This record gives sequence, C-alpha cells and structure tokens, in this order.
Amino acid sequence: MSRPPAKTVHIKTYGCQMNAYDSTRMAELLAGLGYAESPAAEDADLVILNTCHIREKAAEKVYSELGTLRRLKQGRQRQGANMVIAVAGCVAQAEGEELVRRAPTVDLVFGPQTWQRLPELLARQQAHGAAVVETAFPAAEKFQALSQRKPSPRTVSAFLTVQEGCDKFCSFCVVPYTRGAEVSRAPADILAEAEALARRGVREVTLLGQNVNAYHGGGLSLAGLIDRLSGIEGLDRIRYTTSHPRDMADDLVAAHGTNDRLMPYLHLPVQSGSDRILKAMNRGHTVDHYLRLIERVRQVRPDMAISGDFIVGFPGETEADFAATLALVRAVSYASAFTFKYSARPGTPAATREDQVADDVALARLHQLQALITRQMQAFNRAQIGKTLMVLMEKPGRKPGQILGRSPYLQGVHMEAPESLIGQIVPVTIKAIGTNSLSGHYAPRARTDSVLAFPAPHGETTL
Ligand code: SAH
Ligand code: SF4
Ligand code: F3S
Repeated sequence: MSRPPAKTVHIKTYGCQMNAYDSTRMAELLAGLGYAESPAAEDADLVILNTCHIREKAAEKVYSELGTLRRLKQGRQRQGANMVIAVAGCVAQAEGEELVRRAPTVDLVFGPQTWQRLPELLARQQAHGAAVVETAFPAAEKFQALSQRKPSPRTVSAFLTVQEGCDKFCSFCVVPYTRGAEVSRAPADILAEAEALARRGVREVTLLGQNVNAYHGGGLSLAGLIDRLSGIEGLDRIRYTTSHPRDMADDLVAAHGTNDRLMPYLHLPVQSGSDRILKAMNRGHTVDHYLRLIERVRQVRPDMAISGDFIVGFPGETEADFAATLALVRAVSYASAFTFKYSARPGTPAATREDQVADDVALARLHQLQALITRQMQAFNRAQIGKTLMVLMEKPGRKPGQILGRSPYLQGVHMEAPESLIGQIVPVTIKAIGTNSLSGHYAPRARTDSVLAFPAPHGETTL
C-alpha cells in the first residue's frame, strides 16, 4: 500500500519574537499530524498567517496578504485541490469574526493562546466546511502544550517563552487586549525545555515575554530563574526580552554583574524622554527613574549594550517633548534602538485623543531620531574594532566560505572560517564594521578577558 502524500503547511510570521516562537511550536505540532513545512504558499495545503496588531501598517499587511492567498486558493481549487487559510496571532485575537466578514476566504481564526487546539480546529473546519473562530484565553492550557513539546530542528540559539501577556495598559498599546493578562510559566517546565534544548546542541536561549522581567513563577523572579538556568551544562548564553523599566528589580540588575552567562545586552524600552508624555502614555515611570536604572546597570556591567523602543508623535507631543527625547537618547547612548511613529490603535485610550500629531510632523521627528540612533549604533560598533570578542557562530554566511555569529552585544559578526565552527563560541578579532554587522577573523590564540573580572568599558579586551 502506498503512503498518502504528506500534507504541507506554510507559516508566515509577523510581529515580535513571541510570534516567532509560537510559529515554531505550530510547525512542530503540525509535523505530528503529517504536515511538512513548505517554503512557499503556492503549493501548501494549509497556510497560516501568524499576525501582529501593534501598528496599523502591521494589521493592514494581513489583509493585502489575504487578497493574494485568495487568488492562490482559487487556482488550487480549479485544479481540484484545496488550501485552508488560517489567521493566527494578535490580529486574529483583536478582530475575531470580523476577519471572516472582511475576508471570507479565511477558514480558521485563532488567537495567540489557542494554537495548541489546531488539530481539533482543523478537524472542525473540515467537518463543517464553515469558518471556525477561536479567541479564548486559556494561557494555562497553552503553557501545558509547551511543556509537552518535542523540540525539532537543530539550532544554536533558541527562543523560550517564560511569560505571556501584559497588565500595564500603556495608553497606546494593544498587547494587553490581544495577549491577555500577565501569566508566568512554571520554572520546572522552563528548566525542562531548556535542558532539552541544550541536549540538542542549543548554546544560547533568549527568554521571552511581553514583560519578561515581570516574571514570577513558583516564587522565582526572573533573576532567580536565570540563576537556575545557568546551571544547565552547555547553555552558555542567556538573554531575555522585552523588559519594562518598572520591573527592573535589584536582583536582575545585580545578576548582570555576577553571572557571566547573562549577556551584556539590555533591551529596555522607554518610549519617550518627556515626563509629561510618559504620564500620558501611562508608562508608570519617569525619565529620571529610567536614567538611574541605566546608570546602575552600567555600574555592575560597564560594557552593557543598551537598546530601547521609542514612539514619536504620541498625541500632544510638542517640539519640547521631542527635544527631551533626543536629550535622553544622547544621555544614554544606545547600541541599537527601534523607533516608531505613533499609530492610533482602535480600542486604546490614546486613539480617541483630539490632539493627534500631524503625520508629516511625526515623520520628520522619526527621521531625526533615527539619524541620531544610527550614529550611536555605528559608534558602538566602531568601538569594537581591534577587540577580540567571543562570538557564538550560528550559521553559514551569505558568501561561500563565510560563517555568521553573534557577539555578546548581539551584533552580527561574520568571518571566513570553516563551517565546523558553527555551534561554537570562538574568539574573533574585529576588523571592520558594515551597516548592520561586524566582520573579523578567527583568533584562536588571542587573549580574551571577561569584562566581569576586568571592568573596562573602553579597554582593549572584552568578553
Ligand atoms: N512589551 C514591550 C513592547 C511591546 S510592543 C514593552 O512594553 O516594552 C513593541 C513596541 O512597539 C513598543 O515598545 C512600542 O515602542 C511600539 N508600539 C506599541 N504600540 C504602538 C503604537 N500604537 N504605535 C507605535 N508604536 C507602538
Ligand atoms: Fe504594551 Fe505597555 Fe504592555 Fe509593553 S508594557 S506590552 S508597551 S501595554
Ligand atoms: Fe505584535 Fe502581538 Fe507581538 S501585537 S508585537 S505580535 S504581541
């Protein structure tokens, strides 16, 4: 008897790392149902768009993609095949039934907390032929599914969700509505997943959460969890993202000065440098609070790379408010940062304010801020030239003979070296900087010192 041809799934991911993590989990779950991953939508039996609702542009992209998929689906149907179209993630959660009304080609809608029900949802859709919409918030059920996962491909660096959701309700943001309330996973489940990853050769984990430093599972803080994870053999690098200034606890700051597996990179969004705007954003912290945090982190870890998120053009933002943001950026000096033009999101308090900033004004501010941050990023990168950094080599580079990895500061580093170094943490002497990455050469005999033992932010050597 010949085996039925394997079904194929194509997953397209938008938005943050939590979506990327969920997409990987969906692929693993579907592999168990006989679905092979297809790099193209054209010949897939099932297409999943794992969507993001954070800004209007992100949400609109989904509808234009659905237009393309509708034509592909019709083409397949003419040939007697079918294509099941599913919308997952935050647009699915926010729009629910509305998605099917606007795009009747959609067969399945499910939110970020319910992808573990995919087998059942697919069966229901196939049995009834009608669209199925699932937007419940069973976070505990999702975490349960995560702990039963069988990690698939061999990767060097992996994401690991430890916390979901947000209770902060910043006045511009949809996340508390799309991802639900803050929930932490049990430490034992996280440790088991990390151990399984390490056994498969993963050397680095990035702990994920919308407010990852608000983690509090089984009596452990994020620092406590990181401490436990540091005992896992082979797991040499630990990162976490995204943090909120209000949850940057003393023990987490201190861990950066004592734990050499904790990488010297901190993504700590501030959004604005004006206290007036921070208050209107309901951020719950001031500029001074943020700057003191950065200072304390740099005291324990002088070479810390600081990253952040900024929104320009929030309703009511004046030239003086924007100047205060530029001043904050100059005071911090970022290694990288993400800058966004405010996007009014339906259902959020800021969207109904009458003092919306004109689009051209917001755009001009965005460009100005981006230019400043690009200069800072280049200066940070340039400062690495001549240093020998420990680089975790992750994959082959774009050019033959090249391999690509990441520095402790999350910079991409490429060099000419054999692929056998992939998966290893090796000393690389930095020779030059490109637009978004560094290049160097393998320096097995170069001296590299841990900056934890020799704090010297502008010294010759670093971790
Ligand atoms: N939980 C994280 C960030 C989640 S969203 C935190 O609190 O830092 C990622 C980034 O998108 C935010 O930091 C913010 O800068 C940006 N963002 C969120 N809502 C936005 C909106 N309505 N318009 C523009 N940018 C937005
Ligand atoms: Fe959104 Fe604010 Fe929560 Fe971050 S802290 S996810 S910006 S509401
Ligand atoms: Fe987007 Fe949802 Fe992440 S709105 S940024 S995919 S939490």
